[in-house]
Amino acid sequence: MNILFMGPPGAGKGTQAERIVDEFRVPHISTGDAFRLAMSQGTALGVKAKSFVDQGLLVPDEITNGIVKERLEKPDCDNGFLLDGFPRTIAQAEALDEMLASMGKRIDHVINLKVDRDLLLGRLTGRRICKSCGATYHVLFNPPKVDNVCDKCSGELYQRSDDTEEKVGTRLDEYTNKTAPLLEYYAGKGLLREVDGQQDIDAVTAEISSLLRGQA
Ligand code: AP5
Ligand code: MG
Ligand code: ZN
Repeated sequence: MNILFMGPPGAGKGTQAERIVDEFRVPHISTGDAFRLAMSQGTALGVKAKSFVDQGLLVPDEITNGIVKERLEKPDCDNGFLLDGFPRTIAQAEALDEMLASMGKRIDHVINLKVDRDLLLGRLTGRRICKSCGATYHVLFNPPKVDNVCDKCSGELYQRSDDTEEKVGTRLDEYTNKTAPLLEYYAGKGLLREVDGQQDIDAVTAEISSLLRGQA
């Protein structure tokens, strides 16, 4: 099953992806995670991406499309994949359609997590992530059992450098201007499925899971 997760920064894409990939046994492909990894390793890609990511701006399409194409060609995507945070522009969506067509594949489901803009800032500034395994927490809404320690692997938690109030503002504007128009793009293709991302985390997972299983 080939799945896209859409939604504004802080909508819960990563949180839900962690759970859905366990259930559906497909790889989780997050362009944001790929950029952060490259940035932490100081690769050429990381250096290029850093100037955009650090400002809360989208990385240019040519760079982003290239890393997704390379990833989708890996054999673990043969039985499906979950793309989180890609595409984010109409040009990326068109490039993805071309990539998939050339591989004889197509998108099966586009899940849009809907969350009101005024809830997103609190979600993002309270987010904490495990340095070792990448698990996502929230200081209020999904706290670890022990402060700053990952429940899954005992790793240390950190805060993303783009989760400050100022950068969140820029990220939300980028979303509204460049990414929100994609909802119409996928609605037009009959692929868009809306999920209320304001329910608690388990309820959101249950709703996505039944949509993907064709039970909703
Ligand atoms: P990326 O890493 O994709 O960030 P984003 O889209 O801004 O989304 P987030 O990861 O911030 O939010 P999320 O929806 O995953 O929420 P989460 O589950 O963590 O991209 C980062 C940057 O990389 C971009 O700004 C850009 O520069 C670049 N980039 C990436 N992709 C690109 C592309 N395609 N093109 C160009 N540039 C690109 O949840 C957030 C918090 O809320 C957590 O603390 C969580 O615990 C909590 N939470 C989750 N669900 C709930 C719930 N139901 N109730 C209460 N709290 C909840
Ligand atoms: Mg994420
Ligand atoms: Zn961990």
